[in-house]
Amino acid sequence: MNKILLLVMLSVGSLFAQVKGDVEVPYIAYQIKMGKGFDAVQANCLMCHSFGYIINQGPQSRLFWKKKVDKMITHFKAPIPKEDAKIVTDYLFEHYGNGELK
Ligand code: HEC
Repeated sequence: MNKILLLVMLSVGSLFAQVKGDVEVPYIAYQIKMGKGFDAVQANCLMCHSFGYIINQGPQSRLFWKKKVDKMITHFKAPIPKEDAKIVTDYLFEHYGNGELK
């Protein structure tokens, strides 16, 4: 019984948890590399998420990047024209590639 009471008090307590003062959420500007095809990346990838998603993958193969772009289109319904998908893939492989095709 005491255990249940304790659990109830703990869970209710967290509902009223408060933070004193202002909460500042840090703004992180991800540094993305400039280069050929960057315009297409900016136009087609930034509408849903930051460049952090790209940069955090680390150097990857051409196939990896192609699959990621395809995933954005088929899975997340990104409205990316076919010709742009190629430009973006080329850009990603050139700047965030590991030199491997597969
Ligand atoms: C329609 C929205 C949308 C667009 C446009 C979009 N993405 Fe995404 N992307 C997502 C979502 C949703 C996730 C998954 C988020 C999560 O899991 O937290 C994601 C995740 C990612 C990831 C992380 C790895 C993974 O597989 O989840 C990468 C890399 C990525 N996107 C790259 C791109 C690139 C490159 C473009 C431009 C060609 C792009 N995205 C455009 C919605 C989008």
